[in-house]
Amino acid sequence: MAILVTGGAGYIGSHTCIELLNAGYEVVIQDNLCNSSAESVRRIEELAGKKVKLYEKDIRDEAAYDEIFCENTIDAVIHFAGLKAVGESCRKPIEYYDNNIGGTVKLLQAMKKHGCKKIVFSSSATVYGSENPVPFREDQKVGGTTNPYGTTKLFIEQILTDVQKANPDWSVILLRYFNPIGAHKSGRIGENPRGIPNNLMPYIAQVAVGKLPYLNVFGDDYDTPDGTGVRDYIHVVDLAVGHVKAVEKAQKDSGVFIYNLGTGKGVSVLELVHAFEKASGVHIPYKIAPRRDGDIAVCYADASKAERELHWTAQYGVDEMCADSWRWQSANPEGF
Ligand code: NAD
Ligand code: UFG
Repeated sequence: MAILVTGGAGYIGSHTCIELLNAGYEVVIQDNLCNSSAESVRRIEELAGKKVKLYEKDIRDEAAYDEIFCENTIDAVIHFAGLKAVGESCRKPIEYYDNNIGGTVKLLQAMKKHGCKKIVFSSSATVYGSENPVPFREDQKVGGTTNPYGTTKLFIEQILTDVQKANPDWSVILLRYFNPIGAHKSGRIGENPRGIPNNLMPYIAQVAVGKLPYLNVFGDDYDTPDGTGVRDYIHVVDLAVGHVKAVEKAQKDSGVFIYNLGTGKGVSVLELVHAFEKASGVHIPYKIAPRRDGDIAVCYADASKAERELHWTAQYGVDEMCADSWRWQSANPEGF
């Protein structure tokens, strides 16, 4: 029995593959490598000491699924594959809807055809929009996304919910991630953004290695303790372990289950900068810049449902997240 991991060569997917392999699962990756490399799959094998089958195939490629499902016994799918840059999604909405939603529909058609009924999906805290009070809870209203990327997450959650309703023996697990950072302890795999990073941690890490001159802090006039944006940063390995727990849940119960994966703690931009400086010993110059369009002031999880139902809680704090991001970035300044 194998787990099909779409997008398994990417940042969160690669860490999840290692945790799946360590837990004794067989892993099959489907990834078109549009935002990752085969080297990451080689390193997964190196770290886990086990082989992984890589299908370099697009999730919109119908024929690929016959190959994958016929050559392997796929018990469940963890679906990471998708485009994820918020700004780019505003410039290229058609590509985002086609890739993320079109690709998910093709995947679901193939699962139905081949009798695979368990799926774990990478959703995002972005589905809570800007109107809900923090901490965000799974039973709050979703909607009000401010960009096509976020809207793809919202729509896919709805599509999966509809599919499960029509097929009650399916198990659909929607994982709403907060802000994943950090890297595997070995420093061999980590986040490898193309071009100038959009997200805070890879930006800080590239300032630290001298690839970028300084950090722009987007706004210091929010209603937060130091005026900068507050987020719930979660170690990518904790997130990966959450997926193994979700697969276990899918094997036991049918239904739609939604879980926040976060630490439940808010950390400001400047707190993260200072934690990184402490972990790396490198000074991070920054300038205060205007607020970034679409940003909310504060976002953190109520993570108690995952604790109750999946028996999962985040183990790592911000200091370890920064130390591990730094180990990866300093050992691999050019990525893979
Ligand atoms: P990533 O870009 O590193 O990984 C995504 C992987 O999917 C890449 O390897 C890419 O090559 C692959 N891919 C993209 N389109 C594909 C297609 N059409 N066919 C086959 N493969 C395709 O991103 P990540 O940070 O690991 O994110 C994984 C998932 O988690 C994404 O769905 C993302 O939207 C979601 N997510 C990420 C964050 C975050 O902050 N990183 C937060 C919330 C949700
Ligand atoms: N920030 C800066 N400077 C930067 C980058 C970010 O000050 O160069 C600030 C932002 O304004 C925000 C915080 O750092 O206050 C975090 O920003 P990120 O871009 O790292 O993360 P976001 O919370 O904006 O978004 C992330 C993912 C989305 C996902 C969302 C909710 O990128 O995909 O978390 O899960 F939808």
